[in-house]
Amino acid sequence: MKRILHNATIVNEGEKFKGSIIIENGRIARIMRLDVTLPEKYFSGEYEFTDCEGLTLLPGIIDDQVHFREPGNTHKGDIASESRAALAGGVTTFMDMPNTNPATTTLSALKQKLASAEKNSHSNYAFYIGATNDNMEEILSIDKSLYCGVKVFMGSSTGNMLVDSQDALEKLFSSRLKLIATHCEDEETIRRNMQEAVGKYGDNIPFSMHPAIRSREACIASSSKAISLALKYGTSLHVLHISTAEEVEMIRKAAAINPLITGEICVHYLFFNDTMYPEYGAKMKCNPAIKKESDMHALREAVKDGTIRVVATDHAPHLLREKNNPYIKSPSGLPLVGHSLLMMLELVSDGILDICTVADRMCHSPAERFGILDRGYIREGYYADIVLIKENEKCLPKVEYKCGWTPFEGRIFRNRICRVILNGEDAVTDGIINESVRGRQIEFK
Ligand code: DOR
Repeated sequence: MKRILHNATIVNEGEKFKGSIIIENGRIARIMRLDVTLPEKYFSGEYEFTDCEGLTLLPGIIDDQVHFREPGNTHKGDIASESRAALAGGVTTFMDMPNTNPATTTLSALKQKLASAEKNSHSNYAFYIGATNDNMEEILSIDKSLYCGVKVFMGSSTGNMLVDSQDALEKLFSSRLKLIATHCEDEETIRRNMQEAVGKYGDNIPFSMHPAIRSREACIASSSKAISLALKYGTSLHVLHISTAEEVEMIRKAAAINPLITGEICVHYLFFNDTMYPEYGAKMKCNPAIKKESDMHALREAVKDGTIRVVATDHAPHLLREKNNPYIKSPSGLPLVGHSLLMMLELVSDGILDICTVADRMCHSPAERFGILDRGYIREGYYADIVLIKENEKCLPKVEYKCGWTPFEGRIFRNRICRVILNGEDAVTDGIINESVRGRQIEFK
């Protein structure tokens, strides 16, 4: 299929410029600046014509951290439902976490997910393989093109995937694996804090205690351990969902020595802070905990100055009836994958971030960090994964998640997603999802 996206304002690689894009066979065939006279053939009917006057065009969003819950917890979400919600929010590629049931810690579990995604995924996909205390041999035997990275829970969260053996960690970090992505929270510290909270409040722990239980000290201790190991062995380490100002500083310093030590920040840590627990309660309970307002500002600054170059969601759906349990029984995690672009555009509307920075942190840099082939940029020869937005036009996005809620329910956003194009095909048009479009497994360089 041949098409032309005519007269868009293109945001790409630090520039915002007027131009047109020719798409052929799912890929970007040409990018033409407005000052180039377009050959007649593009208007002859051979090319499907889309007028993009007044619209801003970005590469599709790449979310490097989602929990789509399949297999095992498909009452909360599954590959079909959550990839569909992702697509509606402009996320054209996702990387799904291994804390499913069974956990994705073997080749056969990984293949099962890939097979389901091939049939059911509405957007492009990749999966992590999960580390355990004893599956090193299995990980080493798996073809690296089949997964995007190795997930290591250095602190436990939903699912039971804690890697706490020093021996296993040393092996993981020294084995020249593909990227290691860590969840960093120190178990011992959390256990101690939890005991104290139970002693004080019994079963009635207020949600506002979450950042005192899953404390900044727990994050700092665990991130510091991961970074020390990565410095010792020259590991490619990606510290996920950084939540404190101190960890930003640690990444800044470590990256100066080993540039393969990077961090990721998730959108909710840029919007919520601990003053909001009384209002949101369980609806903002996630691991690591959302911390102080000063952390929120430090994280925004880190995204802005490029210390942290990857922004994602940690999309983690749970049913509201599960969330609405008392603190200890209330599962951690927020459904966000379809809201991330709109959230980041709010920061643009507020003058906090530049839209080119948003494109870098959500498209270019995730593609670079994971070595994704031919995606993440508006470049000739690259797949046509594209989002068209109308800046400064209000919208109230539909909640597409299977769990049926989001902390942003009812919020009016100041920008609107008009169209999402996946591998050259119209996948979402004015909120209507083309149900027949399927994503592809992403490839790595
Ligand atoms: O809040 C969280 N929920 N953090 C995680 O790391 C896991 C996630 C989940 O799977 O529910």
